Amino acid sequence: MQITFSEPKMPTSGTLVVGAFEENALTPVAKAVDERLGGALTRAMKAASFTGKARQTAELLAPAGSKLDRVLAIGLGKPDALGPLTVEKAGGAIYAKLSKVEGPVAVTVDGAAKTGMSAAEIAAHMAFGLRLRSYRFDKYRTRMKKEDKPRLKKVNFGVKGSGAAKRAYQPLDRIGDGVFFTRDLASEPANILYPASFSKEVKALTKLGVKVEVLGEKQLEKLGMGSLLGVGLGSRRETQLVVMQWNGALKSKKSKPIAFVGKGVTFDTGGISIKPGNGMWDMKWDMGGAGVVSGLMKALAGRKAKANVIGILGLVENMPDGNAQRPGDIVTSMSGQTIEVLNTDAEGRLVLADALWYTQDRFKPQFMVNLATLTGAIVVALGHVHGGLFSNDDELARRLEAAGKAVDEPVWRFPLHAEYDKALDSPIADMKNISTAGGAGGITAAQFLKRFVNDVPWAHLDIAGMTWSTKDKPTAPKGATAFGVRMLERLVADHYEG
Ligand code: BES
Ligand code: MN
Ligand code: ZN
Repeated sequence: MQITFSEPKMPTSGTLVVGAFEENALTPVAKAVDERLGGALTRAMKAASFTGKARQTAELLAPAGSKLDRVLAIGLGKPDALGPLTVEKAGGAIYAKLSKVEGPVAVTVDGAAKTGMSAAEIAAHMAFGLRLRSYRFDKYRTRMKKEDKPRLKKVNFGVKGSGAAKRAYQPLDRIGDGVFFTRDLASEPANILYPASFSKEVKALTKLGVKVEVLGEKQLEKLGMGSLLGVGLGSRRETQLVVMQWNGALKSKKSKPIAFVGKGVTFDTGGISIKPGNGMWDMKWDMGGAGVVSGLMKALAGRKAKANVIGILGLVENMPDGNAQRPGDIVTSMSGQTIEVLNTDAEGRLVLADALWYTQDRFKPQFMVNLATLTGAIVVALGHVHGGLFSNDDELARRLEAAGKAVDEPVWRFPLHAEYDKALDSPIADMKNISTAGGAGGITAAQFLKRFVNDVPWAHLDIAGMTWSTKDKPTAPKGATAFGVRMLERLVADHYEG
């Protein structure tokens, strides 16, 4: 998709997109177009029962007296409710409507006076939403019919002050690169994306100035990561830990880094506690947390964020095999704490236990945020609307809640409590990897992680219900969503830069 910005000019061919606010308040450009077409646009809007509600559309085809193929009116909702999010979603709606359209598309942006956003900002965010919605993962579809492929290739935004729009779009475009990277990683099947191929993809971030280290099994053994390594015992693929560092903070600011840690189970069969066959294919995206951390690093490095950021990935495949760990096995984690593995399908926490301990031990970060497709229980509790948030630090939790809200990646905070923690005590080791008390599966998983953060400010995001969508969303087609990338990018931008 090629997205450009230029000074407004009435196009003479292709598709023209104009905005309209609720109760049919045409923007000035839309009004001018309507007049030029003898009122045909307002007639088309009326015929389509278009009232300007957010994301509504009305189409006028081949209008007489012009060489245009089409005029599309896009609803922008109430002017005082207009913000970056509504504009991004409108951009997404434009893409959804026009993805099969051939020929150039020109979007005119104006009418920003009453809205609190400049025309340049509106154009940039509309373009951002349009790009996010245009994501595709077609690389394995070799026989796709031409009519099934998107044909929309070029979109120009006509806006006064197009230079400012272009500048405002620049960092958003880099965030889009991060989101697409995450979606690509989550979409890849597990025969293609396994720990070593995952880390190879991440190595490419070196070009953006990210320092990337890959630790293999030998090094992980030396570090004492028996918890992470235990998960990979049944796999032919090497278990790896990836360490990314982006050092973008001003040299004068010698602040401690911030750290993001992702669960990267490239496939989760459940191991010896094997999962049922139906739906198991979804476990190719059990690396969703690691995918978000990778995309986040790409976004931050891409836009040269002024912050020192660590990204850690625990990469492993959970397979049943003659070498696989068994229910009841006891492993020793890097922290020294022993874990009785009662259920080999509760493997994400085993991965994160060592990854979190390693992160705080080596980097002494200001905080750690981990992301994981950790529990089915969080999906029972929150469905596909909120991610689960757990934290030992109220300020960090509040900042995450606010960042999530701002970019429409909402999270809902759950409690931590000694009573839940108790349910993890084992009669034979320091803890067991599942609670046998029943209930509160999302919380007991979080309590397990908390035992490995060494009291560093920490938050855990359980994104099991948000990583994959079976429905199209305004700025994400169905499939991998990259939920989390934008929230954490926003968290960094709002509090940890400069
Ligand atoms: N990867 C799964 C959690 C999951 C479920 C992610 C559905 C995405 C969609 C995780 O490793 C798992 O198997 N969790 C178990 C834990 C249980 C054994 C305590 C679960 O939730 O059933
Ligand atoms: Mn599992
Ligand atoms: Zn898992």
